[in-house]
Amino acid sequence: MSKPSVINIGFCGLGTVGQGVWKHLSGNRALLEARLGSKLELYRVAVRHPAKARGVKIPAGKLTTDPLAVATDPAVHIVCELIGGTTLARDVTLAALAQGKIVVSANKALLCGFGAEIFAAARKGGGHYFFEASVAGGIPIIKALREGLIANRFGRIYGILNGTCNYILTRMEREGISYADALAEAKRLGYAEADESLDVQGWDTAHKAAILAFLAHGVWVKTDQMLVEGITRITQTDIVHAAQLGYGIKLLAVITRNFETNQLFVRVHPTLLPRRLVLASVDGVFNGIAVTGDVAGTTLYIGCGAGQDATASAVIGDIADAVTLLTSGKSVVVPDEAAAIHAGGRQGVQLAPLESVGSRYYLRLEVRDQPGVLAQIATVMARNRVSIESVIQRGNRGPETATLILTTHQSNEQAIRATLAGLAQLDSVLEAPLLLRIGDFDE
Ligand code: NDP
Ligand code: HSE
Repeated sequence: MSKPSVINIGFCGLGTVGQGVWKHLSGNRALLEARLGSKLELYRVAVRHPAKARGVKIPAGKLTTDPLAVATDPAVHIVCELIGGTTLARDVTLAALAQGKIVVSANKALLCGFGAEIFAAARKGGGHYFFEASVAGGIPIIKALREGLIANRFGRIYGILNGTCNYILTRMEREGISYADALAEAKRLGYAEADESLDVQGWDTAHKAAILAFLAHGVWVKTDQMLVEGITRITQTDIVHAAQLGYGIKLLAVITRNFETNQLFVRVHPTLLPRRLVLASVDGVFNGIAVTGDVAGTTLYIGCGAGQDATASAVIGDIADAVTLLTSGKSVVVPDEAAAIHAGGRQGVQLAPLESVGSRYYLRLEVRDQPGVLAQIATVMARNRVSIESVIQRGNRGPETATLILTTHQSNEQAIRATLAGLAQLDSVLEAPLLLRIGDFDE
């Protein structure tokens, strides 16, 4: 491969992230070129609405409405896929990889859904797929897992991976503002996905968890094989009671691998995190990840998890790796092979059964305020061998209703699901209970 004298970068999408990449590549171009020893050209840009006002100025001659034309332009060396979604973005990615190009992407939904296909296309076409910006915004967690921690097998990775949800929960906790107002602000700030239900229902975190699980364990866990719950039902009542019990509420991804049974479990759910833990104080749009490796022990990573600038930093980091690859020919290990090696071989990894996944639990129940109700609830829990640790009864939303906050001793997912099903049968329980896990992590 002859070394290009100028590296041409093509943009497919120039929204929140794309504009950040353009802004910082332009603003820091001299520094980047000096660091990389290569000239960079922001060569061509595809958007849907060329006339839209943007925060960066794009010469009209560089604009097109055809992302595939950018992805397959012979002059383009690096294609930044910053459209999002899994349809056009997939076509663009596969087209560029088929031509042996390097694709840089922030698209976790695409990678989670089509990772195996994308890496196969990269191998077949001689291209490469870089995706640091897909997980945890400005935190270089993918480099950390693949490179810095290469000596380790990962028994547990857990963390806050969605900036929007953490921003919402923090504003609700600190300022008492409503869920709806906090979400509106997260959208205005450019943190949320185009379809914000991906954020608040936990799917975006699940996509990121799938990527981390793949890097750590060499297998793609589908989102329907995970436990995925979002933050939409969390209220001020939960935030206040969690605080009284000594916890903050965080939406966590938790990836655990038992190397004795070779079982893996990936889950995403709001979690009561003890205040003493560092990650419990990771607030606002910040993300935080605790990685436990068998050699390094636990290492923590904290940084801005969403938004234009942090994400642009990760995309530009990948562009720098792409430039190095293009100019030095230094090969980077194809990601899925790296992951399989890293995982010590992916043969035989099983998904852990629900009864092996344990936790203490927090339950909020809206109930009729009548004699015997607590006894009915306790009976259902006892039948499922779920032991109550504490009960708080609070003021009612209506004249004859009450809110019960229960915490349990250690139980497991199978037992708590059976408990929820049993509680749903009781006339005295007025709506589906809210279930939160209690994260008894050591760090
Ligand atoms: P935006 O919605 O802000 O930008 C999407 C861009 O794609 C826009 O420029 C849009 O054009 C363009 N586009 C959409 N459809 C077409 C089409 N049919 N033809 C041509 N162009 C099209 O998204 P974000 O920048 O927020 O996100 C981009 C990616 O980055 C997503 O995968 C997202 O998940 C990921 N990501 C986002 C982060 C964030 O904080 N926002 C953080 C980390 C990752 P136009 O501008 O004309 O409408
Ligand atoms: N919507 C995502 C978030 C963007 O809020 O974390 C970063 O991946």
